[in-house]
Amino acid sequence: MSAFEYRNKKLHAENVNLQELAETYGTPCYVYSKATIEKNYRAFEDALRKWSSRICYAVKANSNLAILNLLAKLGSGFDIVSIGELERVIRAGGDVSKVVFSGVAKRSDEIRRALIMGVDCFNIESIAELTRLDAITREMDVQANVSLRVNPDVDANTHPYIATGLKENKFGVDINLALDIYQQIEQCSHMQAVGVDCHIGSQLLDLSPFQTSFEKVFALVDQLASIGIVLQHVDLGGGLGIRYQNDDHPPSAAQYVEILAPFMEGRNIQVFIEPGRSIVGDAGILLTRVEHIKETRDKNFALVDAAMNDFMRPSLYSAWHDITPIEQTANSSTTYDVVGPVCETGDFLGKQRPLAIQEGSLLAVHAAGAYGSVMSSNYNTRLRAPEILVDGEEAHLIRMRETFDQLMANEIIPES
Ligand code: LLP
Repeated sequence: MSAFEYRNKKLHAENVNLQELAETYGTPCYVYSKATIEKNYRAFEDALRKWSSRICYAVKANSNLAILNLLAKLGSGFDIVSIGELERVIRAGGDVSKVVFSGVAKRSDEIRRALIMGVDCFNIESIAELTRLDAITREMDVQANVSLRVNPDVDANTHPYIATGLKENKFGVDINLALDIYQQIEQCSHMQAVGVDCHIGSQLLDLSPFQTSFEKVFALVDQLASIGIVLQHVDLGGGLGIRYQNDDHPPSAAQYVEILAPFMEGRNIQVFIEPGRSIVGDAGILLTRVEHIKETRDKNFALVDAAMNDFMRPSLYSAWHDITPIEQTANSSTTYDVVGPVCETGDFLGKQRPLAIQEGSLLAVHAAGAYGSVMSSNYNTRLRAPEILVDGEEAHLIRMRETFDQLMANEIIPES
C-alpha cells in the first residue's frame, strides 16, 4: 500500500491532507513519507539478514539531513561521492565507520579529510586514484581500506545517462586488469585491499544485468583468493529500479537479493549494497499548483509553479512521472502538457496528461523522492523548494524555502 492515497477524494501523505500542507508551506514543495523510507530500508535489511551485510544508502539520491538522520537511526551506512556528502552524514549523526567513498575524481583534500574522519573504505576507480591515495596515506602515515570498483562491461538496459557498467563509461577499472591492480595494492604499506565494488547503472528493472555482473565479480573474488588475496567484502552498488509507470515491474528488494544466494553459498564474505532510489524514490512527491490553463488550437498547457529547476528528471532524461490532481472530481478530463515557468521549451514535468483541473488546482508529481530536490537549481533565480517529512499525523518542515538573501549571499558587485 502506498503512503500517498486518496481519502474522501483528497490525496494524503500518510495521515496528512496534502491540500493543508500546500496551504501551510506553499508550493512548489517536496513531501516525503517517513514510513515508506523505513519500509524500503527494512525490505533490504530483511532480505540480507541471512548474511553479514551492510546497507550503504547512496546519499546522492536524497541528502536532506533529516532523511540521513532517519536512515542513520535505522542503522544504515552511507555511500558518498564528495566531501560535502561526508559533511552531511556527520551532521546527520551517521556513523563514519560505515561510510564508503565512491567517485571517479576524488580531490586530494577530499581524500585527506576522509582519512582524518575515518571513512571505512575508498572505492577506487582508477590507477591514477590509487597512486594518489598511496602517496597521501604514506605522507599522513595512516592506513586506508580500499576496494576496487570494477567495470564488468555489462549493459544495464537503462537510460544511457545513468548506465555506468559499460567499457565506454568513465566508471571503474576494466575487470580484466583487476588482478594486477590488487597485486599492486598488496605492495603498498599503507593500503589494504578489503573489498571489490561494482555499480552498473541506475533504474534497472531487470535482474539479468545484475546477475551477469555478480558472476563476473564473484569470479574475481575467487581468482584473488587463489593467489592469496582474501577480500572481506563485496560491494554490489545500487541500481534497483522503482515503478514510475504502470507497466514498470521492478523486482522487489527480496528478489534482487535472492539472485545473490547461489554466489554466497559456502562463502565467508560480507555483502555491501548502495541503494538510493529504491529507498527514497517512491517515498516522495512534488506538490505544485496550476497557475494558468492555456488552451490553443494545437495543444493545451497546464502552467504550473514547479519547473525544471525544481525537478530535472523529465527534462534531463525524458523521465515519466505520474501526475495526479490532489482532489478527485467527477469533471471530465482534458489532455495537457504540464509545464513550468522557466524560459525553455524543455521545461516540462509531463506531456499529454489527461487531467480534470482548473486554475488553482494542486497536482502531485509522483515518485519524486530520489534525484528530485538534490538536483534542483536556482535557474531563472527561482528559490529552491521546501521539503516536508510526514510521520503519521505530523508534518515536519525539514528544509525551509530559500530566501533571496540566501540565494544572493555569495555574490559581489566589485567597487569601481
Ligand atoms: N552507487 C554508486 C556508485 C552510484 O553511482 C549510484 C548512483 C548509486 C550507488 C545509487 O544508485 P540507485 O540505487 O539510486 O540507482 N540522477 C539520475 C540517477 C543517477 C544515479 C547515479 N549513481 C536519475 O535521476 O535517474
